[in-house]
Amino acid sequence: MSKKVMILPGDGIGPEIVEQACRVLAAVNEKFNLGLEFVEELIGGSSIDVHGEPLTDAAVERARSCDAILLGAVGGPKWDTIDRSIRPERGLLKIRSQLGLYANLRPALLYPQLVEASSLKPEVVSGLDILIVRELTGGIYFGEPRGIRTLENGEREGYNTYKYSESEIERIGRTAFEMARKRHKKVCSVDKANVLEATILWREVMDRLAPEYPDVELSHMYVDNAAMQLVRAPKQFDVLVTGNMFGDILSDAAAMLTGSIGMLPSASLNEQGQGMYEPCHGSAPDIAGQGIANPLATILSASMMLRYSLGMTDAADVIEAAVGKVLDQGLRTADIHTAGNEKVGTQQMGDAVLQAL
Ligand code: NAD
Ligand code: IPM
Ligand code: MN
Repeated sequence: MSKKVMILPGDGIGPEIVEQACRVLAAVNEKFNLGLEFVEELIGGSSIDVHGEPLTDAAVERARSCDAILLGAVGGPKWDTIDRSIRPERGLLKIRSQLGLYANLRPALLYPQLVEASSLKPEVVSGLDILIVRELTGGIYFGEPRGIRTLENGEREGYNTYKYSESEIERIGRTAFEMARKRHKKVCSVDKANVLEATILWREVMDRLAPEYPDVELSHMYVDNAAMQLVRAPKQFDVLVTGNMFGDILSDAAAMLTGSIGMLPSASLNEQGQGMYEPCHGSAPDIAGQGIANPLATILSASMMLRYSLGMTDAADVIEAAVGKVLDQGLRTADIHTAGNEKVGTQQMGDAVLQAL
């Protein structure tokens, strides 16, 4: 039975890194006779340029009919000043929201070969394996009312709404507990319950769920402390669960512990188990078009896709092993390059992974 995968290259380095991931997918498709079929759509600035909007409804409907989606990244200076309602990032938020992709899994795993590339000391970071579970379709990213309004004194005011319903908190909480069960059985819920009502409720719901998962240890931490602990002693964590904005920020910080943001893949899942897979980083306008971006986060996102949405674990294992082999060979893109290793570009890194499959 064939499986349909939608490819959304996006902007900036998006097409460069997605190209490498697609080569890897095509190779395992052939090797394991997976029956994968690919369809491509525009998202972000590249869609604005053609359709005048960052993601068409037709593209969303096509995505809905696919078994999984692989995305590069969106955004760039070219579209930074257009009307905010059609910014490239809105396309990404639209697909997440319309497909109900509420559970964003961001594993921060330090490959032993990259210990030297981490910003932390080897003894603090080696062996790091944490999972950030970020709520992705609620919180301040989507809360209404929102906008920019003019006050009586003529001054303008920007405003957003941070809110979470009990059911939204409960389902992401369950995701975190279930994930912890398959790992080291610890969940740390990150909030700002000393200040924000929405997160007082968040903490209450997490506590209410905990007795249903007696084999998992639940703790709570304020987000400011969590940011500090992530760079002080990250190995204390197993699963971190948090809201949309805190998860966005903490996962970029966690990325650097693994050597580079170019190493961090992600999965965004809905209640039906359908998923979108993308690197945690953005379109990196500062290096776009130079052929030097690290494609490994996207290649690893493709392998998460095979594992979580398509049930093709053998192929996923092979891709992850190939990434390990390439790192063993000392090949490094500029972002993870350290003394004694060989610096390679995006395409060469893709070639090496293909070779190692
Ligand atoms: P960014 O993640 O694009 O870049 C931050 C820094 O990390 C840059 O120096 C960049 O060169 C580097 N970097 C990122 N990915 C890399 C890779 N694969 N290899 C090597 N280096 C890499 O974040 P930013 O600069 O804040 O944002 C740029 C644009 O991307 C903005 O328009 C933003 O909205 C968008 N963005 C999109 C996504 C997404 O599509 N999921 C995520 C984050 C940011
Ligand atoms: C990410 C990005 C997005 C987010 C932006 C581009 C909308 O930073 O995927 O981490 O904030 O979720
Ligand atoms: Mn982000």
